Amino acid sequence: MDTPFDFSGRHVFVAGGSSGINFGIAQAFARAGAKLTVISRSADKVATAAQQLQALGAQAIGIAADVRQPDALQAAFSEATSKFGPIDILVSGAAGNFLAQALDMSPNAFKTVVDIDLLGSFNVARLAHAHLRKPGACIVQISASQAFTPTPYQAHVCAAKAGVDMLTQVLALEWGPQGVRINSIVPGPIADTEGLKRLAPTSDTLDAMAARVPLKRLGRTEDIARMAMLLASEWGSYITGVIIPVDGGLSLTGPRDFSAAAAAAKRA
Ligand code: COA
Ligand code: NAP
Repeated sequence: MDTPFDFSGRHVFVAGGSSGINFGIAQAFARAGAKLTVISRSADKVATAAQQLQALGAQAIGIAADVRQPDALQAAFSEATSKFGPIDILVSGAAGNFLAQALDMSPNAFKTVVDIDLLGSFNVARLAHAHLRKPGACIVQISASQAFTPTPYQAHVCAAKAGVDMLTQVLALEWGPQGVRINSIVPGPIADTEGLKRLAPTSDTLDAMAARVPLKRLGRTEDIARMAMLLASEWGSYITGVIIPVDGGLSLTGPRDFSAAAAAAKRA
């Protein structure tokens, strides 16, 4: 992906950065000259991600850490900043999802997604704060349209991502005076990602999803990476506290019907 932006020497820390959309964002920043730290639960996944970023010519490290575990996160921030210096850009996108109606979710099922998506985002932002470059740091939270579209089979994600976007707005107010900006990106359905596999597990449900998008295509990780780079660049320097759909217009079309996808997922 060509980029008009130069992030040479900047430290980009990506929580949940070992795969999918977040890894796509890490790759884009790597190509633009940044130094990368990626974290996620799996030691194998973060090691592979770091190797792939290094193959693009970037300095990169991978650290295994669960966003639900503040001690592990704290250690990751210390290790990352002792290697690459203060964090210029923090991308926070660790998340989990599955299709289930509320009555089919145990309290622990609901809590698990809220713990990863919402409490995890709070942990990441709060513990990163001491390590952010101030003034100048930019935080990009990866949200979802479930944050503002009530969606059956997604009670846990709706509740968690609504909280993520509210956190974005509160932290914009609290940290703006220190020169720290924070915004949410709301990706549309992004091809070849785990998230989309879970919501559209068959070719029929995938085709129906693409057909519903007003721009008539699935998204690509580059679509999201471009917005992350714009927000993190000088061009985004007066933007904070906003929730930005990058979704081909999908969030204008109301709640999606996941009953066929849920039935297919149950059969699989
Ligand atoms: N329907 C209902 N409940 C489900 C479920 C499903 N499809 N999948 C998991 N759960 C429940 C489990 O039964 C468990 O509840 P219980 O203890 O009452 O039985 C609870 O959720 C936690 O499951 P567990 O597998 O222990 O959680 P985990 O922390 O190991 O994994 C998940 C978290 C469940 C979100 C897992 O799918 C994951 O790791 N996802 C990451 C990848 C991903 O989702 N990517 C897309 C991002 S949008
Ligand atoms: P993904 O590849 O599964 O990405 C999730 C990442 O988070 C993985 O790197 C995963 O790695 C990590 N992760 C999960 N739980 C974690 C935890 N407890 N602690 C630390 N890291 C954890 O899925 P994706 O589809 O690309 O989703 C990325 C983001 O985009 C999510 O925030 C999602 O809500 C959002 N989104 C996706 C879509 C879509 O179409 N895909 C649409 C809208 C929004 P480990 O397994 O190693 O932990």
